[in-house]
Amino acid sequence: MARILVVDDKPDNQALVSLVLEEQGHEVLTAANGREGLQVAIAELPDVILLDVMMPDMSGIEVCRKLKEDERTRAVPVILVTAMGLNENVVAGLDAGADDYVSKPFNAEVLAARVRAALRTKESYDAVAELNRQLRQEIEYRRQVEETLEKKEAQLRQAQKMEAVGTLAGGIAHEFNNLLQAIRGYTTFAMDDLEPGQQAHQDLEQVVAAVDRAASLTSQLLRFSRAETLEREHLNLNDTVRIVIKMLRPLIGEHIDVEAHLGEDVCPVYADPGSLQQVLLNLCINARDAMPLGGKLTITTRTVVITDAESENYPDIGPGVYASIAVTDTGCGMPPEVKDRVFEPFFTTKGVGKGTGLGLAIVYGVVRQHKGTIDVYSEPGRGTTFRIYLPASHEDVAATASGGHEDVPGGTETILIGEDDAVVREVAARVLRRAGYTVLEAQDGDEVVRMFDEHGRRVSLVLLDVVMPKLDGHAVYAELKRRHPGVPVIFCTGYDPRADQTQFVHEAGIPVVEKPFDPVRLLQLVRRTLDEQAGAEAGAGGASEPLPLQALVHGMVNR
Ligand SMILES: Nc1ncnc2c1ncn2[C@@H]1O[C@H](COP(=O)(O)OP(=O)(O)OP(=O)(O)O)[C@@H](O)[C@H]1O
Ligand SMILES: [Mg+2]
Repeated sequence: MARILVVDDKPDNQALVSLVLEEQGHEVLTAANGREGLQVAIAELPDVILLDVMMPDMSGIEVCRKLKEDERTRAVPVILVTAMGLNENVVAGLDAGADDYVSKPFNAEVLAARVRAALRTKESYDAVAELNRQLRQEIEYRRQVEETLEKKEAQLRQAQKMEAVGTLAGGIAHEFNNLLQAIRGYTTFAMDDLEPGQQAHQDLEQVVAAVDRAASLTSQLLRFSRAETLEREHLNLNDTVRIVIKMLRPLIGEHIDVEAHLGEDVCPVYADPGSLQQVLLNLCINARDAMPLGGKLTITTRTVVITDAESENYPDIGPGVYASIAVTDTGCGMPPEVKDRVFEPFFTTKGVGKGTGLGLAIVYGVVRQHKGTIDVYSEPGRGTTFRIYLPASHEDVAATASGGHEDVPGGTETILIGEDDAVVREVAARVLRRAGYTVLEAQDGDEVVRMFDEHGRRVSLVLLDVVMPKLDGHAVYAELKRRHPGVPVIFCTGYDPRADQTQFVHEAGIPVVEKPFDPVRLLQLVRRTLDEQAGAEAGAGGASEPLPLQALVHGMVNR
């Protein structure tokens, strides 16, 4: 069965044609003039259009031309219906893009056969259009694959370059250290045989001082090549920032404002505190040097969950939980050719005697030694941000989030998580389980609905990603509310180019936790949402006792 639009101003003709077509099992749409015909054609996209040529407002030929000009209706076959003998109409109609014509008075069987022929044409059009669509998709897919490959190749080249330079620098530094050791040793032996006042003694003192400077250089090179051992402990980046800010005061002039935005619950890292302080200090001093006329230096710490997809952008690290520290300045920024080389040892744009070009090489070495990564954003004339990611220490993220926080609330209810990103889902599940909840995990919208149907009212709360495959968050939300209007939902949102998808969440006033979420904030929001829901239900049922059992359980968990 097909849908056929009959455009004819004469009711009798329209009825006759409709009858013939309906007898053939087709669905018939009608329009009484050209304008209406165009509107219906666009709105309904029929399979075939039967178009009377002689109509008062707009001739069928004109309508046909418009249909064929319009992207949306171009592929719908048009059969013109003309009066017998008016050959000039047939010619004009076919030239205007019509696919076929029938002459009035027509024979029902001929009309039916022409419609069938037109439907076959339509099928071929559709098949070609579908193939085209697939082809375009394939081309786009290949383009993306090529782009990813190119990016990966560039990342690999950069990594190999850094590795090679690191090995070279480490090797030289190591050899040099031994030589310096010998120079220093023999120099002091020679000094032992001289009186301190003698000229030769004073000269040798200079040699020792130069050797010490050289030794400090080689030790910096060793840091870059990751040949130095680390003394690690579990530490909080915020403490590192506080210490460095104190050291900064005398180094940074009045003309630069220093601001710190320290994340409340930055996950701990397993790191060498001294090395991290040096890293941060190097970044801050570079920022100072980039702002000779003053500006603002901002240090930001937070916990970041790097998802599977995002980890593509960070060649050195995989998906997981990271503590991040960013140093932002409003200084001169860097052109791309400088940005590409900043981590190379001895690369500097500062004048002779001003910079050795080792600062960022050390930063890079230390960060890599901690199995982290660093990236740079810079805009000439506007400023620069260096951001470091260090893996969360193996102490359980959730445990440390709740350690030191007496007021992190837990519970024993069942929570259903709908999130397609495995890392985000696992972290959320772990945080919630650690706090006592029973957690069900679904990886797409369909599965959320399926699990909700299966576990029914055992589910006390649903944590939903807004953007999910199969059914997106909005659709899942509607499904859940249809089944159980009272079930509380919290949405997880991240930065997403399809931000319009999160619009409804804000409009409906649904609680939201922003990705990367902070474990403590998630637990607080979950508890608050559950309690509000429990309160609402108790109120609705007229119960005067505020759920003593639940309160008791939470009290126990919190303790
Ligand atoms: N915040 C920044 N803004 C603009 N350019 C920067 C910034 N940080 C680094 N750079 C550029 O990167 C180069 C290398 O930095 P790096 O810290 O490795 O060496 P340096 O600062 O020149 O010397 P050193 O740190 O050894 O005293 C700098 O010379 C500068 O051109
Ligand atoms: Mg520097």
